[in-house]
Amino acid sequence: MYPLRRNRRLRTSEAIRSLVRETAITPNDFIAPLFMVEGKNKKEEIASMPNYFRFSLDLLEKEVKELWSLGIKSVLLFVKVPDNLKDNAGTEALNNDGLMQRTIRTVKNAVPEMLVMTDVALDPYSAYGHDGVIAHGKVINDDTTAILAEMGLSHAKAGADILAPSDMMDGRIFEMRSLLEDEGYHETGIMSYSAKYASAFYGPFRDALDSAPVDAENIPKDKKTYQMDPANREEAVKETLMDIEEGADIIMVKPGLCYLDIVRDLRNVVNIPIAVYQVSGEYAMIKAAAEKGWLDHDAVVLEQLTAIKRAGASMIASYFAKDAVKLIS
Ligand code: PBG
Repeated sequence: MYPLRRNRRLRTSEAIRSLVRETAITPNDFIAPLFMVEGKNKKEEIASMPNYFRFSLDLLEKEVKELWSLGIKSVLLFVKVPDNLKDNAGTEALNNDGLMQRTIRTVKNAVPEMLVMTDVALDPYSAYGHDGVIAHGKVINDDTTAILAEMGLSHAKAGADILAPSDMMDGRIFEMRSLLEDEGYHETGIMSYSAKYASAFYGPFRDALDSAPVDAENIPKDKKTYQMDPANREEAVKETLMDIEEGADIIMVKPGLCYLDIVRDLRNVVNIPIAVYQVSGEYAMIKAAAEKGWLDHDAVVLEQLTAIKRAGASMIASYFAKDAVKLIS
């Protein structure tokens, strides 16, 4: 008598469902992004990222200790640079006593075991809001990679464990790796944003750091000459394999949810860890819908993070890291 096979048997109770569950998210999966700002006693909520904050250095220790106590063992650092320190050459990015460098030292002092990852890109430091040096209306690749390598070295000197270049210039992993090797920083790792798309989901992040491309004559109005076209799939494999050849230890797909096909493609061809960045716009959408009572916040957060892991992510950079870890514990 048909059916002999009834798939619902394996769904009859939470006990059997948990026994056959293929994917689990754990605190080990998360990288928590942190936004830093100059000043004292500042914990500023980012308007387009409810319940996410920019911290001043004096409040960082408490936050990092809390993350560690929740089981989150890595952070990804970003800084909001004061306007008067921005220029077209990333000068402040190389300041060994800049906000990023001080932040790295502060995290390492607060929790020495915390894995410190740092954003390496010029946009927060750029007077034009671009990830590279601008000349004649263009983002100049090789001038930029030379600066990025020096910037990475300065983070390594301050104590960063892993450099995370998010700029999408050609050859930057090679430049960065070579300089680290020359200077003896053999253990400093590189997590390359290897398949980073020119996405409209970065809007809230650019609010957080005041880093959007400026609207001015002879300044590219978007990042489409360096970030990838969302229509492209094969190209993500090419980009990623090149970054691995150049020395990347971890590769990344960004954003998350719209690009899970890319994550799976890469999982099938690369044999190094894949990070996925669930970006600011993804965070903002869930928060906004939940505020309106249109979606169940906690359930949607866990569903999306599980989907990212199921697609093939080895780790997830997410503004929901704290929420998720509290929900699953
Ligand atoms: C820029 C950078 C961006 C993000 C991380 N690094 C934005 C951009 O490329 O304009 C976005 C992260 C997010 O949206 O959460 N180097």
